[in-house]
Formats: sequence, structure tokens, C-alpha cells
Amino acid sequence: MRAGFHGLGLRRIGTGAATLPQAFPPDFVWGVATSAYQIEGAADQDGRGPSIWDRFCQQPGAIADGDDGRVACDHYHRWAQDLDLMVDLGVAAYRFSVSWSRVQPAGAGAWNAAGMDFYERMVDGLLARGLKAAMTLNHWDLPQALQDRGGWTERDTVHRFVDYAQGMAARLGDRVAWITTHNEPWVMATLGHETGHFAPGQRSRAAAMQVAHHLLLSHGLALQALRAQGCRSALGIVLNLSPVEPATDSAADAAQARLDDGRLVRWYMDPLFSGCYPQDVLDWLGADAPHVAADDMDSMRQPLDFLGINYYSRSVASADGSWNVAQGGLPLSAMGWEIYPQGLTTLLLRLARDYAVPPMVVTENGGAFPDQLQGGRVHDVDRTQYIASHIAAVGEALRLGAPMAGYMVWSLLDNFEWTSGYAKRFGIVHVDYATQQRTLKDSALWYRAFLKTQREAPAAIARGN
Ligand code: FCB
Repeated sequence: MRAGFHGLGLRRIGTGAATLPQAFPPDFVWGVATSAYQIEGAADQDGRGPSIWDRFCQQPGAIADGDDGRVACDHYHRWAQDLDLMVDLGVAAYRFSVSWSRVQPAGAGAWNAAGMDFYERMVDGLLARGLKAAMTLNHWDLPQALQDRGGWTERDTVHRFVDYAQGMAARLGDRVAWITTHNEPWVMATLGHETGHFAPGQRSRAAAMQVAHHLLLSHGLALQALRAQGCRSALGIVLNLSPVEPATDSAADAAQARLDDGRLVRWYMDPLFSGCYPQDVLDWLGADAPHVAADDMDSMRQPLDFLGINYYSRSVASADGSWNVAQGGLPLSAMGWEIYPQGLTTLLLRLARDYAVPPMVVTENGGAFPDQLQGGRVHDVDRTQYIASHIAAVGEALRLGAPMAGYMVWSLLDNFEWTSGYAKRFGIVHVDYATQQRTLKDSALWYRAFLKTQREAPAAIARGN
């Protein structure tokens, strides 16, 4: 087993001990995360309309094994049992997303009462169990009806999203602690519209940049609208961010790393916090730069109550594109992603240094590994170590002064991992898809024991400056 990060006693994991030798602040929020399309199933039930992921899954070859989210974890019918699992784990918060096409099947106009009722029951179920609700409005599953009118490339979708956000806040804003507008705009823009790997499968850099602009704009306009209607939930956005490191010390790789950082990190952070796009990326985009209307940049830059960060790995830049994870010398998850916890500390400190960040929450972090269910147990030492070492990395950032407010494991359940289908398992709870039986993996048992130590911890990490 690899040595623990920063000597935080991780070698003891797997031998029974469950503590990290430090305690987080008592108000630090520990949670688990999921998203609607990945767990709910019930795709055709109770008036839900199709989303772009329903459509994308129908394309031959788009998804491993031809899988789709039609049934997934059947969470739509098993939500109460799944909430009970969270109580068993001892988490304080649940990050979930709303399927827009379940509550507003055409993405505009009529609301679907049965869909709204589902989320209301679930949120009330969370509160009844003493859990906080963290609601994401857009975790990628745009109503197909809006895609048929151009989707996120069209400015009209911005206004449809603001209406949807207002409708959800009017119904649930008095009960959800946090509302996130978008999950990972970079993924929707780049993988959805530039490389075509994700729904809706378009391949145009210009379209992708317009999509990114519309997502940021709709975020800002939604925050304005929700605040205007008196919404009391904490409001924020979730970005997928990584430190970008050059593959070698050549000047060309350094320049590539700077550009990649511009496209992944600064393209989103700069407008949110400084009200402008990074000039070096605009110059590089040339004619592919988005059309920006007067006032857009001001609209996008709204005060954030929190910033959500999804972190899985670092990004490595090489000018000739030749770098491969095999060269990194780091262990890899089943996704082929490098396991690099110290990158999370680096990233959080950099954000706190370069931007006037609000409290930051790691809204997703976790790993896919080749699990074996044997005798009712899953001995997922790799995942346990992954989670523990990344929690330690958050602790280190906190100790060095980053304003960290929470951490959420991706994911509560094994689920539909987009183009990887059900083959890749991220859950700390195993799902047997034939029976829908849930089994706590060792990582869940570890997280539960760790959270217990936090509740009982005498001293908190001192925040640095
Ligand atoms: C993130 C997504 C989440 C999940 C994890 C593994 O990019 O937000 O839905 O797929 O990756």
C-alpha cells in the first residue's frame, strides 16, 4: 500500500482504524452526492419528459454496453430507503439534482405536479431525518424539447433556465439549505458540444464556447432572480477544477499548461469573480469566442454564498499532446484517472489566493475501482484510501488558510456513470442492479466511523490566514 498523504496515518485503513489525526471545524458539512439521471430511473413515469441523456443513450455506441438510465438505481421508488442509508452513515447533507424534464417536461410552460411532488417528498424526508438538502438544478439533463430548439447554444434557453430555477425555489427554497445552479459547465460545454463525447454530442468549438457563456449567464441571472424573490437558500455553482501541470519543464509545455488552465479554470472563475473572460483564451479562440451581449459580464458576476468544487485528479499539459497517464507514475483509478490528493490542496490554496472566494465545498470527490461483492462485503481498500487521502488534503488546505466549508463523497450509490454505463462503480454503497439491493462497502463503514470521530472530536483544526 502506498504511503499516506502527509503522513496522516492512512496505512491504518484496512486494518480497522478509522481516524485521521485531526478534526475539522464542528460546522464543517460532511455529505454524499448523486445526480438525477444517474440514480432515479422511472424515466417514463408520472409525466417525466425526455432529456438529452435519454436521447443520447439511444445512439448506438454512445454508452458502454448499450446501457441507459431508464431504471438506474430505481431511486425514484426507493428514495426513502436511500435516505435511511444516509442516516446510517451519519452524514449531515445530501447533494442531489433535480431532473428538469421531470418537473417541467417541455423545459418551458406547464409544470408536472407529480414530478414536483417527488422532490418535495424527498426534501421533506431529508428534513424529517435531520439532513440538509443541497439541490442542484442542472446536472446535465436538459429537457430534449429545449435541445430541439437549439439547447444551450440558444440564448432563449438562458431564460427558460431562470424560469425553472424560480419555479423550484418558489416550491422548495424555504427548505433546501443550498441551491446550485449548474454542475460542471466545462463538461457540458466541452464534452457535450466540442468533443461530442457527452450529450448532446455536438462537435463545434464555437458552439461549446457559446454554451459555456450561456451557462454562466443563466447562473448569474438565476441568482439575481432568486434573490429578488426572497429565496433564503445559500446560492452557488459547482465547477470541475484541477491544477494543470506541464508534462516537462519545456517552455512549450508551460505555455500549454497556461492555456489549459485558462480553458478549464480561469474561463469560469474569472467571469464569476472578476467579471471578464481571460484575455489569453479569448485571443486563442479568435472567431470561436462567444457572442457576449452588453451587460452579460455584469450579470454573470453575482455574489456567491458558496463555491462547489468537484475534484478527481490533476490535469497534465503537453504541447504535442503526447503525454499519457502511464508516464505519470501515479496509481490510477478504474477510470484511468491519476490518484493525486495533493493536487486538491494545491488547487484549493490557489483559488483562495487568486480569487475572493466564498466558503468552498468539495461537492464531489471519489473513485471508481474494480469492486467485488463477496459474502455481503466489498473490501474496497483503494476507494477508502482515496477518500481518506483526499479528506486529508482538504484538511491541509484548511490548515493553510483556504475557507473550506464541506466535503461530499461521490457517490452515495453505484450508479449510471454516463458513457461508462454501469461498468464503473463510484458508490460507497454497492448496488446489485438485478435486485436493487444496497450493501455498504468498507469505504462506507470507514466514512461512518470517520464521521463519528469528527462528531466526538475535542479540537478543531485551527484555520490559517
Ligand atoms: C463528475 C460528474 C458526476 C460523476 C463523476 C464521476 O464529472 O459530475 O456526475 O459522473 O464525475
